[in-house]
Amino acid sequence: MRVVIVEDAEQVAEWASARIAELVTRQPKVVLGLATGGTPVQTYRKLVERSRAGLDVSQVTTFNLDEYFRVAATEPHSYRSFMNEHLFIPAGIPLAQTHVLDGMTTDVGGECRSFEAKIQRAGGIDFQLLGIGRDGHIGFNEPGSSLSSRTRWMLIAEETREDNAVYFGGIDRVPCSALTMGVATILESRQILLLAVGAKKADAVAAMIEGPVTNQVTATALQHHSNTIVVMDQDAAKKLTRRRYYQESEVRRVEFGLGSY
Ligand code: GLP
Repeated sequence: MRVVIVEDAEQVAEWASARIAELVTRQPKVVLGLATGGTPVQTYRKLVERSRAGLDVSQVTTFNLDEYFRVAATEPHSYRSFMNEHLFIPAGIPLAQTHVLDGMTTDVGGECRSFEAKIQRAGGIDFQLLGIGRDGHIGFNEPGSSLSSRTRWMLIAEETREDNAVYFGGIDRVPCSALTMGVATILESRQILLLAVGAKKADAVAAMIEGPVTNQVTATALQHHSNTIVVMDQDAAKKLTRRRYYQESEVRRVEFGLGSY
């Protein structure tokens, strides 16, 4: 796991958008796995700016990590609406190339299997963007999820619903469950970039990077992935015991001409 500690949320977004832009330029038909939540919003804003400045995203294919269960795509709080608003429409990614699980499905197993099959048909996910929950979850893989899990229905933990209450105007309005890519589905991505911002993520970040692999913190499964980068701000990094080592590693990387991306 490569650990990159930058100053603040703005720099996290700059780092992530530059990396994604570079990937799309090199590989215009790249398959991107995308995340929702507050963390990637600034990254998406910067990608929209880059597309307005000439970055061509018209050939990318996308798969989103998760969607609220029993929330229609057309509802303002659906993750489909979030992605359309923050990235797909303003950046000009054709909606037919974007895939978000259908939270209104009446056949959960069929919807989840078909989503996995679409990922396979697209040739797998080249690059997966992730955030992290306060309890260390990725996607909606809450504590207790199998680290071999595939796309499925999950009950959302109380703590996660509390965190998401701000987007819904109260915890009672936050859906209680979701469809989510599984941990194993995520680990099959060729490259993973996890973003973490703010002091409330510090415990989860420390557990993910320096703790033992456990299904109680599903992000720890990323320790088994050979091409994962975690980019965070100073606040999210503050509980890391080997912080100086990670920072020196980034300085040396540049000194040896290995590039900062
Ligand atoms: C939700 C999403 C996750 C996201 C997490 C953190 O649970 N399913 O994919 O990483 O929230 O969200 P935020 O970035 O708002 O802190």
